[in-house]
Amino acid sequence: MDDENIKDLDYFVDIQPKTQIEFYEAVLEGLSLPQKTISPKFFYDERGSKIFDKICDTPEYYLTRTEIALLNDIQKELYSLVEPGSVVVEYGCGSSIKIKALLSALPEPSHYIAIDISKSHLISTAKEIASNYNNISVAAICADFMEPIDWPERASFESLKRLAFFPGSTIGNLNPSEASQFLKYVRHLVGDEGTFLIGVDMKKDAEIFNRAYNDEEGHTADFNLNLLHRMKKELDADINISKFSHKAFYNEKLGRVEMHLISDAKQDIKLNNLEFSFEKGESIHTECSYKYSVIEFSELAKKSGFSVLKNWSDKRNFFSIYLLKAF
Ligand code: AVJ
Repeated sequence: MDDENIKDLDYFVDIQPKTQIEFYEAVLEGLSLPQKTISPKFFYDERGSKIFDKICDTPEYYLTRTEIALLNDIQKELYSLVEPGSVVVEYGCGSSIKIKALLSALPEPSHYIAIDISKSHLISTAKEIASNYNNISVAAICADFMEPIDWPERASFESLKRLAFFPGSTIGNLNPSEASQFLKYVRHLVGDEGTFLIGVDMKKDAEIFNRAYNDEEGHTADFNLNLLHRMKKELDADINISKFSHKAFYNEKLGRVEMHLISDAKQDIKLNNLEFSFEKGESIHTECSYKYSVIEFSELAKKSGFSVLKNWSDKRNFFSIYLLKAF
Protein backbone atom coordinates (compact mmCIF):
# COMPACT_ATOMS: atom_id res chain seq x y z
CA MET A 1 0.00 0.00 0.00
CA ASP A 2 1.63 3.27 -1.05
CA ASP A 3 1.41 6.44 1.02
CA GLU A 4 -0.67 8.22 -1.58
CA ASN A 5 -3.41 5.68 -0.99
CA ILE A 6 -3.60 5.95 2.77
CA LYS A 7 -2.77 9.58 3.35
CA ASP A 8 -6.31 10.44 4.44
CA LEU A 9 -6.20 7.76 7.11
CA ASP A 10 -4.95 8.05 10.65
CA TYR A 11 -3.21 4.72 10.33
CA PHE A 12 -3.51 1.42 8.55
CA VAL A 13 -2.83 -1.94 10.19
CA ASP A 14 -2.47 -5.03 8.05
CA ILE A 15 -3.00 -8.33 9.85
CA GLN A 16 -2.66 -9.91 6.38
CA PRO A 17 -5.33 -12.51 6.03
CA LYS A 18 -3.59 -14.62 3.37
CA THR A 19 -6.76 -15.06 1.34
CA GLN A 20 -5.09 -16.53 -1.73
CA ILE A 21 -3.33 -19.51 -0.14
CA GLU A 22 -6.28 -19.81 2.15
CA PHE A 23 -8.70 -20.16 -0.76
CA TYR A 24 -6.70 -22.96 -2.35
CA GLU A 25 -6.36 -24.84 0.93
CA ALA A 26 -9.99 -24.30 1.86
CA VAL A 27 -11.17 -25.65 -1.48
CA LEU A 28 -8.95 -28.75 -1.23
CA GLU A 29 -10.09 -29.43 2.27
CA GLY A 30 -13.74 -28.60 1.65
CA LEU A 31 -14.06 -30.78 -1.44
CA SER A 32 -12.58 -33.71 0.47
CA LEU A 33 -15.36 -33.74 3.06
CA PRO A 34 -18.24 -36.23 2.79
CA GLN A 35 -20.58 -33.23 2.37
CA LYS A 36 -18.47 -31.04 0.07
CA THR A 37 -18.31 -27.54 1.54
CA ILE A 38 -16.78 -24.15 0.69
CA SER A 39 -17.05 -21.22 3.11
CA PRO A 40 -19.23 -18.24 2.08
CA LYS A 41 -16.38 -15.88 2.96
CA PHE A 42 -14.92 -16.75 -0.46
CA PHE A 43 -17.92 -15.29 -2.31
CA TYR A 44 -16.55 -11.78 -2.05
CA ASP A 45 -13.91 -11.26 -4.71
CA GLU A 46 -14.43 -8.16 -6.84
CA ARG A 47 -16.99 -9.84 -9.11
CA GLY A 48 -18.78 -11.47 -6.18
CA SER A 49 -19.03 -8.19 -4.28
CA LYS A 50 -20.60 -6.54 -7.32
CA ILE A 51 -23.11 -9.37 -7.68
CA PHE A 52 -23.92 -9.07 -3.98
CA ASP A 53 -24.77 -5.38 -4.49
CA LYS A 54 -27.20 -6.45 -7.23
CA ILE A 55 -28.82 -8.98 -4.86
CA CYS A 56 -29.40 -6.16 -2.37
CA ASP A 57 -31.36 -4.28 -5.05
CA THR A 58 -33.68 -7.15 -5.95
CA PRO A 59 -37.30 -6.86 -4.76
CA GLU A 60 -37.07 -10.27 -3.06
CA TYR A 61 -33.99 -9.55 -0.92
CA TYR A 62 -35.61 -7.50 1.84
CA LEU A 63 -32.66 -7.58 4.28
CA THR A 64 -30.57 -4.57 3.20
CA ARG A 65 -33.50 -2.30 2.50
CA THR A 66 -35.25 -3.17 5.77
CA GLU A 67 -32.11 -2.68 7.84
CA ILE A 68 -31.31 0.73 6.32
CA ALA A 69 -34.89 1.93 6.90
CA LEU A 70 -34.73 0.67 10.49
CA LEU A 71 -31.37 2.35 11.10
CA ASN A 72 -32.81 5.62 9.87
CA ASP A 73 -35.87 5.19 12.10
CA ILE A 74 -33.81 4.73 15.26
CA GLN A 75 -31.31 7.56 14.71
CA LYS A 76 -32.80 9.76 17.44
CA GLU A 77 -32.77 6.96 19.97
CA LEU A 78 -29.19 6.08 19.13
CA TYR A 79 -28.22 9.69 19.71
CA SER A 80 -29.35 9.47 23.31
CA LEU A 81 -28.23 5.89 23.98
CA VAL A 82 -24.63 6.13 22.75
CA GLU A 83 -21.93 8.09 24.64
CA PRO A 84 -20.72 11.32 23.02
CA GLY A 85 -17.28 11.08 21.42
CA SER A 86 -17.41 7.32 20.94
CA VAL A 87 -14.91 5.34 18.88
CA VAL A 88 -16.89 3.42 16.26
CA VAL A 89 -15.39 0.15 15.00
CA GLU A 90 -17.06 -1.44 12.01
CA TYR A 91 -16.65 -5.15 11.31
CA GLY A 92 -16.69 -6.00 7.63
CA CYS A 93 -17.35 -2.55 6.24
CA GLY A 94 -19.78 -3.52 3.51
CA SER A 95 -22.01 -0.62 2.66
CA SER A 96 -21.08 2.98 3.31
CA ILE A 97 -24.81 3.87 3.45
CA LYS A 98 -25.17 2.08 6.80
CA ILE A 99 -22.08 3.47 8.49
CA LYS A 100 -23.04 6.96 7.32
CA ALA A 101 -26.52 6.53 8.83
CA LEU A 102 -24.86 5.54 12.09
CA LEU A 103 -22.13 8.20 12.20
CA SER A 104 -24.65 10.89 11.33
CA ALA A 105 -26.95 9.72 14.13
CA LEU A 106 -24.40 9.63 16.96
CA PRO A 107 -23.38 12.52 19.23
CA GLU A 108 -19.98 13.65 17.91
CA PRO A 109 -18.30 10.32 17.22
CA SER A 110 -14.55 10.91 17.45
CA HIS A 111 -12.99 7.99 15.58
CA TYR A 112 -14.01 5.47 12.98
CA ILE A 113 -12.02 2.25 12.62
CA ALA A 114 -12.91 0.03 9.67
CA ILE A 115 -12.08 -3.68 9.73
CA ASP A 116 -12.33 -5.76 6.57
CA ILE A 117 -10.69 -8.79 4.99
CA SER A 118 -10.53 -7.14 1.55
CA LYS A 119 -7.77 -4.53 1.52
CA SER A 120 -8.96 -2.56 -1.50
CA HIS A 121 -12.55 -2.45 -0.29
CA LEU A 122 -11.37 -1.46 3.17
CA ILE A 123 -9.22 1.45 1.97
CA SER A 124 -11.91 2.82 -0.31
CA THR A 125 -14.63 2.75 2.40
CA ALA A 126 -12.28 4.29 4.98
CA LYS A 127 -11.22 7.03 2.59
CA GLU A 128 -14.80 7.82 1.69
CA ILE A 129 -15.71 8.24 5.35
CA ALA A 130 -12.58 10.36 5.95
CA SER A 131 -13.57 12.74 3.17
CA ASN A 132 -17.19 12.96 4.33
CA TYR A 133 -16.61 13.50 8.05
CA ASN A 134 -13.92 16.08 8.76
CA ASN A 135 -14.25 15.81 12.53
CA ILE A 136 -13.83 12.07 12.69
CA SER A 137 -10.40 10.52 12.50
CA VAL A 138 -10.42 7.40 10.38
CA ALA A 139 -8.27 4.27 10.51
CA ALA A 140 -8.35 0.85 8.90
CA ILE A 141 -7.42 -2.67 9.96
CA CYS A 142 -7.14 -5.42 7.37
CA ALA A 143 -8.12 -8.61 9.18
CA ASP A 144 -10.41 -11.63 9.23
CA PHE A 145 -12.94 -10.97 11.96
CA MET A 146 -13.24 -14.64 12.86
CA GLU A 147 -9.87 -14.27 14.50
CA PRO A 148 -9.45 -12.29 17.72
CA ILE A 149 -8.36 -8.68 17.16
CA ASP A 150 -6.68 -6.67 19.91
CA TRP A 151 -7.56 -3.04 20.42
CA PRO A 152 -4.93 -1.15 18.38
CA GLU A 153 -2.32 0.47 20.68
CA ARG A 154 -2.49 3.69 18.70
CA ALA A 155 -6.21 3.92 19.31
CA SER A 156 -6.20 3.54 23.07
CA PHE A 157 -7.80 6.82 24.03
CA GLU A 158 -8.45 5.77 27.62
CA SER A 159 -11.56 7.77 28.29
CA LEU A 160 -13.44 7.19 25.05
CA LYS A 161 -16.19 4.59 24.87
CA ARG A 162 -16.03 1.99 22.13
CA LEU A 163 -18.97 1.03 19.94
CA ALA A 164 -18.64 -1.92 17.56
CA PHE A 165 -20.98 -2.05 14.55
CA PHE A 166 -21.81 -5.18 12.55
CA PRO A 167 -24.75 -4.69 10.20
CA GLY A 168 -26.14 -6.89 7.43
CA SER A 169 -26.88 -10.04 9.44
CA THR A 170 -23.46 -11.30 8.42
CA ILE A 171 -23.38 -13.02 11.81
CA GLY A 172 -25.87 -15.44 10.20
CA ASN A 173 -22.99 -17.02 8.28
CA LEU A 174 -21.64 -18.39 11.55
CA ASN A 175 -23.26 -21.34 13.28
CA PRO A 176 -24.55 -20.52 16.79
CA SER A 177 -21.38 -21.66 18.58
CA GLU A 178 -19.12 -19.74 16.17
CA ALA A 179 -21.44 -16.75 16.56
CA SER A 180 -20.98 -16.92 20.33
CA GLN A 181 -17.19 -17.11 19.87
CA PHE A 182 -17.33 -14.09 17.57
CA LEU A 183 -19.41 -12.13 20.11
CA LYS A 184 -16.74 -12.92 22.71
CA TYR A 185 -14.05 -11.54 20.37
CA VAL A 186 -16.09 -8.36 19.99
CA ARG A 187 -16.55 -8.24 23.76
CA HIS A 188 -12.74 -8.45 24.09
CA LEU A 189 -12.20 -5.68 21.51
CA VAL A 190 -14.68 -3.18 22.94
CA GLY A 191 -13.72 -3.82 26.57
CA ASP A 192 -15.68 -3.61 29.81
CA GLU A 193 -17.42 -0.36 28.95
CA GLY A 194 -18.08 -1.23 25.34
CA THR A 195 -21.29 -1.46 23.35
CA PHE A 196 -22.18 -3.32 20.17
CA LEU A 197 -24.78 -2.45 17.52
CA ILE A 198 -25.63 -5.46 15.39
CA GLY A 199 -28.18 -6.23 12.64
CA VAL A 200 -29.76 -9.70 12.64
CA ASP A 201 -32.25 -11.28 10.22
CA MET A 202 -35.28 -12.75 11.98
CA LYS A 203 -37.04 -16.11 11.76
CA LYS A 204 -40.10 -15.92 9.52
CA ASP A 205 -42.18 -17.77 6.97
CA ALA A 206 -40.10 -20.14 4.81
CA GLU A 207 -41.62 -18.77 1.60
CA ILE A 208 -40.11 -15.33 2.22
CA PHE A 209 -36.63 -16.83 2.58
CA ASN A 210 -37.07 -19.08 -0.42
CA ARG A 211 -37.95 -16.06 -2.54
CA ALA A 212 -35.20 -13.84 -1.09
CA TYR A 213 -32.49 -16.42 -1.88
CA ASN A 214 -33.90 -17.38 -5.31
CA ASP A 215 -34.46 -13.98 -6.91
CA GLU A 216 -36.08 -13.96 -10.34
CA GLU A 217 -33.28 -12.06 -12.03
CA GLY A 218 -30.89 -14.82 -11.00
CA HIS A 219 -28.33 -12.68 -9.18
CA THR A 220 -28.21 -15.03 -6.19
CA ALA A 221 -27.56 -17.92 -8.58
CA ASP A 222 -24.72 -15.91 -10.20
CA PHE A 223 -23.35 -15.10 -6.77
CA ASN A 224 -23.30 -18.75 -5.77
CA LEU A 225 -21.85 -19.94 -9.10
CA ASN A 226 -19.17 -17.22 -8.85
CA LEU A 227 -17.31 -19.56 -6.48
CA LEU A 228 -16.73 -21.90 -9.40
CA HIS A 229 -15.58 -18.97 -11.57
CA ARG A 230 -13.11 -18.02 -8.85
CA MET A 231 -11.80 -21.57 -8.69
CA LYS A 232 -11.25 -21.55 -12.46
CA LYS A 233 -9.69 -18.12 -12.57
CA GLU A 234 -7.53 -18.18 -9.45
CA LEU A 235 -6.80 -21.86 -8.97
CA ASP A 236 -6.83 -22.91 -12.62
CA ALA A 237 -9.44 -25.56 -11.80
CA ASP A 238 -10.98 -27.60 -14.61
CA ILE A 239 -14.73 -27.26 -14.08
CA ASN A 240 -17.73 -27.40 -16.37
CA ILE A 241 -19.68 -24.59 -14.72
CA SER A 242 -22.74 -25.08 -16.91
CA LYS A 243 -23.20 -28.48 -15.26
CA PHE A 244 -23.76 -26.94 -11.82
CA SER A 245 -26.84 -25.14 -10.61
CA HIS A 246 -27.86 -22.93 -7.74
CA LYS A 247 -30.05 -24.20 -4.93
CA ALA A 248 -31.21 -22.28 -1.85
CA PHE A 249 -33.86 -23.20 0.69
CA TYR A 250 -34.88 -22.54 4.27
CA ASN A 251 -34.00 -25.41 6.59
CA GLU A 252 -36.70 -24.84 9.17
CA LYS A 253 -35.40 -27.39 11.64
CA LEU A 254 -31.97 -25.77 11.84
CA GLY A 255 -33.29 -22.21 11.47
CA ARG A 256 -31.07 -21.38 8.54
CA VAL A 257 -31.10 -20.73 4.83
CA GLU A 258 -28.73 -23.09 3.02
CA MET A 259 -27.13 -22.49 -0.34
CA HIS A 260 -25.69 -25.32 -2.41
CA LEU A 261 -24.15 -25.81 -5.84
CA ILE A 262 -25.76 -28.92 -7.27
CA SER A 263 -23.98 -31.10 -9.80
CA ASP A 264 -26.41 -31.74 -12.67
CA ALA A 265 -24.46 -34.79 -13.81
CA LYS A 266 -21.96 -37.36 -12.70
CA GLN A 267 -18.70 -35.50 -13.30
CA ASP A 268 -15.24 -34.58 -12.00
CA ILE A 269 -13.59 -31.32 -11.02
CA LYS A 270 -9.83 -31.24 -11.57
CA LEU A 271 -7.62 -29.14 -9.38
CA ASN A 272 -3.84 -29.27 -9.46
CA ASN A 273 -3.72 -32.94 -10.57
CA LEU A 274 -6.37 -33.91 -8.06
CA GLU A 275 -9.81 -35.12 -9.06
CA PHE A 276 -12.96 -34.57 -7.09
CA SER A 277 -15.86 -36.64 -8.30
CA PHE A 278 -19.53 -35.75 -8.09
CA GLU A 279 -22.56 -37.96 -8.35
CA LYS A 280 -25.52 -36.52 -10.20
CA GLY A 281 -27.40 -34.37 -7.66
CA GLU A 282 -24.48 -34.19 -5.23
CA SER A 283 -23.84 -30.73 -3.78
CA ILE A 284 -21.20 -28.36 -2.53
CA HIS A 285 -22.64 -26.62 0.52
CA THR A 286 -21.65 -22.97 0.09
CA GLU A 287 -23.54 -20.98 2.72
CA CYS A 288 -25.55 -21.09 5.91
CA SER A 289 -27.50 -18.02 6.87
CA TYR A 290 -28.86 -18.48 10.39
CA LYS A 291 -31.98 -16.60 11.47
CA TYR A 292 -32.75 -15.58 15.05
CA SER A 293 -35.84 -14.72 17.02
CA VAL A 294 -35.37 -11.94 19.58
CA ILE A 295 -35.34 -14.48 22.41
CA GLU A 296 -32.74 -16.66 20.70
CA PHE A 297 -30.38 -13.81 19.87
CA SER A 298 -30.72 -12.24 23.31
CA GLU A 299 -29.75 -15.60 24.84
CA LEU A 300 -26.74 -15.86 22.56
CA ALA A 301 -25.64 -12.33 23.50
CA LYS A 302 -26.03 -13.08 27.21
CA LYS A 303 -23.89 -16.19 27.14
CA SER A 304 -21.20 -14.22 25.27
CA GLY A 305 -20.78 -11.35 27.72
CA PHE A 306 -23.36 -8.85 26.48
CA SER A 307 -26.74 -7.73 27.77
CA VAL A 308 -29.40 -6.23 25.50
CA LEU A 309 -29.72 -2.50 26.14
CA LYS A 310 -32.39 -2.16 23.50
CA ASN A 311 -33.64 -3.91 20.40
CA TRP A 312 -35.70 -2.80 17.44
CA SER A 313 -37.44 -4.50 14.55
CA ASP A 314 -39.46 -3.32 11.57
CA LYS A 315 -43.27 -3.52 11.44
CA ARG A 316 -43.29 -6.87 9.67
CA ASN A 317 -40.77 -8.33 12.17
CA PHE A 318 -38.42 -9.22 9.32
CA PHE A 319 -35.16 -7.71 10.60
CA SER A 320 -33.81 -6.69 13.99
CA ILE A 321 -31.12 -4.38 15.33
CA TYR A 322 -29.69 -4.82 18.85
CA LEU A 323 -27.74 -2.42 20.99
CA LEU A 324 -25.71 -4.64 23.31
CA LYS A 325 -23.72 -3.62 26.36
CA ALA A 326 -20.75 -5.46 27.83
CA PHE A 327 -21.21 -6.88 31.31
C1 AVJ B 1 -24.25 -11.06 3.63
C2 AVJ B 1 -24.34 -13.15 4.75
C3 AVJ B 1 -25.99 -11.49 5.18
O1 AVJ B 1 -26.91 -14.44 4.23
O2 AVJ B 1 -28.32 -13.08 3.35
C4 AVJ B 1 -27.24 -13.06 0.14
C5 AVJ B 1 -25.34 -13.26 1.89
N1 AVJ B 1 -26.30 -14.98 0.35
N2 AVJ B 1 -27.82 -13.90 -0.71
C6 AVJ B 1 -27.17 -13.44 3.56
C7 AVJ B 1 -26.27 -13.74 0.82
C8 AVJ B 1 -27.25 -15.06 -0.60
C9 AVJ B 1 -26.04 -12.58 3.03
N3 AVJ B 1 -25.15 -12.09 4.13
